[in-house]
Amino acid sequence: MKFGKGYENYTKEEQTRIALGRQVASEGMVLLENNGALPLKPGAKVALFGVGQIGFLHGGSGSGSTFADYVVKLPEAMENAGAAVDQPLLSLYADYCAAEQKKVEKEPPHMRRGTIPELVLPEAAVKAAADRNDAAIVSFARLAGEGRDRKLEQGDYYLSEEEHALLRAVRAHFKTVIVLLNICGTIDMNWVDTYRPDGVLMVWIPGQEGADAAADILMGHVNPSGRLTDTIAKNWKDIPSSENFGAWADGFESYTGDENQIPYWGGVGNHEMVPVGETVVRPIGNRRYTEYQEGLYVGYRYFTSFGVDTAYPFGYGLSYTTFARTASDFRQTERGIDFKVTVTNTGAVPGKEVVQIYLHGAEEPLERPDRELIAFAKTRELAPGERQTIDFSVDYRSFAVYNEDRAAWMLQAGSNALYLGGDSLHNVEFACFETSEILLEQVTNRVTPAHHTRPLNVLSKRDPEGTKPVAPPIPANSGEKHGRMKDDKYEWPEVPSTEGKWKLRDVRDGKVSMAEFVSQLTDFELIVLLIGANLSKISAVETMDREMMADMPPEPPERMTQLGELSEYVPGMSGYTAAIERFGIPTITMSDGPAGIGGGAKTSKLAFPTATITACTFNTELAEQLGEALGAEAEERKVDVWLAPAFNIHRNPLAGRNYEYYSEDPLVSGKIAAAVVRGAQKHPVSTCLKHFAANNQETSRWDKDDSVMTERTLREIYLKGFEIAVKEGDPHSLMTSYNPLNGKQTATHRELLQNILRDEWGFDGFVVTDWEGDTGLAVECIQAGNDLLMPGFPGMVDWLCKRVQDGTLERSDLEICAGRLLKVVMHSAAMERYLSKEA
Ligand code: BGC
Repeated sequence: MKFGKGYENYTKEEQTRIALGRQVASEGMVLLENNGALPLKPGAKVALFGVGQIGFLHGGSGSGSTFADYVVKLPEAMENAGAAVDQPLLSLYADYCAAEQKKVEKEPPHMRRGTIPELVLPEAAVKAAADRNDAAIVSFARLAGEGRDRKLEQGDYYLSEEEHALLRAVRAHFKTVIVLLNICGTIDMNWVDTYRPDGVLMVWIPGQEGADAAADILMGHVNPSGRLTDTIAKNWKDIPSSENFGAWADGFESYTGDENQIPYWGGVGNHEMVPVGETVVRPIGNRRYTEYQEGLYVGYRYFTSFGVDTAYPFGYGLSYTTFARTASDFRQTERGIDFKVTVTNTGAVPGKEVVQIYLHGAEEPLERPDRELIAFAKTRELAPGERQTIDFSVDYRSFAVYNEDRAAWMLQAGSNALYLGGDSLHNVEFACFETSEILLEQVTNRVTPAHHTRPLNVLSKRDPEGTKPVAPPIPANSGEKHGRMKDDKYEWPEVPSTEGKWKLRDVRDGKVSMAEFVSQLTDFELIVLLIGANLSKISAVETMDREMMADMPPEPPERMTQLGELSEYVPGMSGYTAAIERFGIPTITMSDGPAGIGGGAKTSKLAFPTATITACTFNTELAEQLGEALGAEAEERKVDVWLAPAFNIHRNPLAGRNYEYYSEDPLVSGKIAAAVVRGAQKHPVSTCLKHFAANNQETSRWDKDDSVMTERTLREIYLKGFEIAVKEGDPHSLMTSYNPLNGKQTATHRELLQNILRDEWGFDGFVVTDWEGDTGLAVECIQAGNDLLMPGFPGMVDWLCKRVQDGTLERSDLEICAGRLLKVVMHSAAMERYLSKEA
């Protein structure tokens, strides 16, 4: 197996990780179409079309982006896999792309969206290439990421005119046409019916060795076994959230930019920064919202329940072999259901199959989607004729419904059917079982949308017409204006020079309780601890890729250094906590991103496959290994908190960060995330689940777009994955999101953070805000149990000190948060390094 040029420069350990990334990539790519043209014959002569081959995307943009010392491009990969790449065509594309790329590079990396425009080739060039080659391979790429949603436009969700022209031309001249989709989120697929390509491979965003992984599949070295973790709709309008994707407001105001706007990283208070003197019309205060009117019917839950046809259903994916699946030994117990599934490879080449178990649960009193994935597993590679039997054991609680009237997780009375797939559309019933009504877990409703200014319409199978999602009207009434944090100067006290009686290591060694330890810190020290030390003299801002962080404020004041210098320099990190020398408290460092430590900073070295492709492997063992590799990377790079995994639900294909997230389905999201967490935390590294919760779009992210939904929808769809990952992965930390949820900012949502996360699920790590997600709400964050405010700026220290002084904020809240944070700090690798330096 050949790797990309540059692989030889990595260490043995890194090479093993790169190889693992390649395996994840090849297991997560999804073969959507194949009329027998794939795999190509050894030595096949291939003509590579599309600018996507040159600019092959290994990562997305924003904080989930990655940088690697080398990234394999498709031409090299095809040669590595044994194909002969047409050289005249290649140089044509290389020259064109080199010129266009220069223009793109002028945009800051995190703002880059489009790849370069498609090259329009003369018909004669296409025909000549067809005469020289056996197959055309056309690559289309779509970049997306943090801060901006994708567009329902040609060149993004739809193919561009140039892309259509390219497909038309290759189809007219080539016998074999293969299309590769190197995309951050799904796109319209109606062109498949028009041009009938012989093969379509969903390559996703697969990391630095992704092109090699794709070539392995095209050339038959790897049998594809990825399955879609999202439904691909036939038409945009079929997607139930299409009416309600974006943001609405209760009212608007005319605002003229003034000097009092406090510059934050992403904007001002609740709004984008407005240049002084310029007037804009903007939504009022915090009231921007998105109504989740489709309720539970996200993705396949909608398409299977309402009989709407899809382009490709959830769970779908082709293989070069065939499988037979049979279920047996179904047994119902007090706790749940047990059964076995035997998979036999009935084809001619080895391959892996994904077993998918769907439930159509009893529907009284509450309706349920016609199909809900309740279990899945991936077989090992089965030789032709070989079989494998997998045991399943699923407890009732994992597929219970959330009944708001009873505030409880319930098993409903009636008949339940189980289906074996296939995929969400193609599956067969294999068992039917009766259940009686059982209250499985009594809780309290915590997040009802009661505050919302109009009744929330929720889609129901029982009245599809009457409950159809409809975008809210845009009213002209005005709403309430929210206050924002004013610059409130506070004279910072001198830090006492006396050594603390107890040091943090004494807590770790059991000599003193955490409560007693934190009681020694002054109010000021506690506050500094709970606010990221991002603006100290040795600033994280300086250590980051300048270009990438173009939005960051200019040089910060030096006041933070009063408490001790940052002890470690970690290139590419996103932030760190303050060190307090007199109590032996070291700094801990935090870094993105989900697909590579150090994120997009040029100091990073490895770029792993991104989240969606990882989930499409449906292989939790592999995901755990991937987590382990990233954990090892983090440890070596002295990153204490890895800001991953991210796994918000793919509610809509236009959401900009979908590539950073796993799926439209909470079970897949939760199981894969739990596996990644378990893997990474085998190292002395803490994971940080994000973004909690219901952060499903980028539109209006700085305008605090409110996700409005019923508590049942929240618990069964948007919280479910987090619940699984917390209970099965035991992450050390969790990041709240930018959005409010049913009227309250998640960063300040005590019911969410204390009652649900900690009390119901047993989470015992620390909670951190998303970067600047606390704008203006620092007091409320601490009171809600959001332990750490990141990345921190001195004005926040002032603000909190004043609030303790005037009695708004209790010292006891500071102590509780500090205790939770320090529990992780004292078990971190940073603590070990600190102690070994001291010794
Ligand atoms: C992103 C987070 C990221 C953080 C730190 C934020 O803008 O939303 O996902 O972890 O920055 O870089």
